[in-house]
Amino acid sequence: MRTAVFSCKPYERPFLEAANAAAGHELVFLDASLCGATAGLAGGMRAVSIFVGDDASAPVLRALHEGGTRLLALRSAGFNHVDLSEAERLGVSVARVPAYSPYSVAEHAVGLMLTLNRKFHRAYARVREQNFALGGLMGFDMHGKTVGVIGTGTIGEVVCRILRGFGCTLLASDPSRNPACEAMGVRYVSLEELYRASDIVTLHCPLTPTTRHLIDGAALGAMKPGVMLINTSRGAVVDTRALIGALKRGHVGLVGLDVYEEEGDLFFKDLSAEVIQDDVFVRLLTFPNVLITAHQGFFTREACEGIARTTMDNVTGFDRAGAPGIPEANRVTLRLHA
Ligand code: NAI
Repeated sequence: MRTAVFSCKPYERPFLEAANAAAGHELVFLDASLCGATAGLAGGMRAVSIFVGDDASAPVLRALHEGGTRLLALRSAGFNHVDLSEAERLGVSVARVPAYSPYSVAEHAVGLMLTLNRKFHRAYARVREQNFALGGLMGFDMHGKTVGVIGTGTIGEVVCRILRGFGCTLLASDPSRNPACEAMGVRYVSLEELYRASDIVTLHCPLTPTTRHLIDGAALGAMKPGVMLINTSRGAVVDTRALIGALKRGHVGLVGLDVYEEEGDLFFKDLSAEVIQDDVFVRLLTFPNVLITAHQGFFTREACEGIARTTMDNVTGFDRAGAPGIPEANRVTLRLHA
C-alpha cells in the first residue's frame, strides 16, 4: 500500500525499511511534517504515517481524506495530536504503537533525575575546563527518598521498578491501579498526599482533557519546597507559565523536561542559527536548575525497531482487511480519549 511517511528523519528510515522488507509497501519518505500546507503531498496515498510533532487536526484530516487517505498510522503511543472525532466522522482509521520499549522512556526519566541530582551535565563542562572544584555540585542520596509517580501504566511501572532498586519509597496516582506496582510495594494515594510527601514527582500519564495542566499553580504550590519535577509524558500536562512562576519563587527546586507544551515548533529541528520566538521556552532555558531534552525519551535502538515494526504491522493489517485488520490493541478510538 502506498504510504506517505511524514517527519521521517534519516535515523528512522532504516528501521522502517527493515520492518517493511517482507510486506513490501511503497513507502514515500517525507522530511516535511504534516500540516495544512503539506497534506497535499499525501494525495492518492491510502495510508499516512505521522509522528508526535505532526498536525492531525480536523482541517488537515479533511484534506488527507479528500486525497484518498483512509489510515493514519501513528509512530507513537500518544495520540493527543489527532482530532479523533473528525477521524471517526470521516471514516479514517487511526492506529498507534501502544507499547514499544517502555524501558527507553523510563530509563530516560530516571536519567533526568540522576543528572539533575548529581549535576553530571555541569560536572562534564567543568572538568573539560580543568575546573575540578566541587562547589555547587552536591546532590542527595536517591535511597530513602519518596517519589510520586503519576500514571502507572507501561512506562510508569518500569520507572517504579527501577526506583525500587534505588531504595525509594514509591507513591502513585492513577485512576486504574496496576497490580504489578502494588505487588512491588507502590502505595496508591490521593494527589494531595502524593504532592505533600514526594521529593520527586514524575509524570507518566497520557495527555487527555483531564490531564491537561494537571500540574498547575495549585498543584505546584501543594508540592514540597525544593521538589524535583520530571515530565517525559506530554508537555501540556504541565502549565509551563505556572512552572516558571514556581521556579522563580524557588518553590520548585529541579525540573527535568523531555516534552514541552509548544514543542511542535521547536523539537526535532536544528534551530541553532535561528532566533527563537517562543519567549516562554527561552525563559525556561535560562534556569540553571532546569534540564531539557528535546523529546528523546523514545530514542533507543530497541524502541525505534519496535515503533517501525508495529507501524508496518498496522499498515499491513489495514491493507489486508481494513480497520478490523489493525490489531485491536493498536486501534485508536474516541473511547480511549477519555
Ligand atoms: P499507558 O497507557 O500504558 O499508561 C498510562 C497510564 O496513565 C495508565 O495507567 C492510565 O490509567 C494513567 N492515567 C490516565 N489518566 C490519568 C490521570 N488523570 N492521572 C494519573 N494517571 C492517569 O501509557 P505509557 O506507554 O505508559 O505512556 C505514558 C505516556 O508517556 C504516553 O501517553 C505518552 O504521552 C508518553 N510517552 C512519551 C515518550 C517520550 O519520548 N517522551 C514516548 C512514549 C510515550
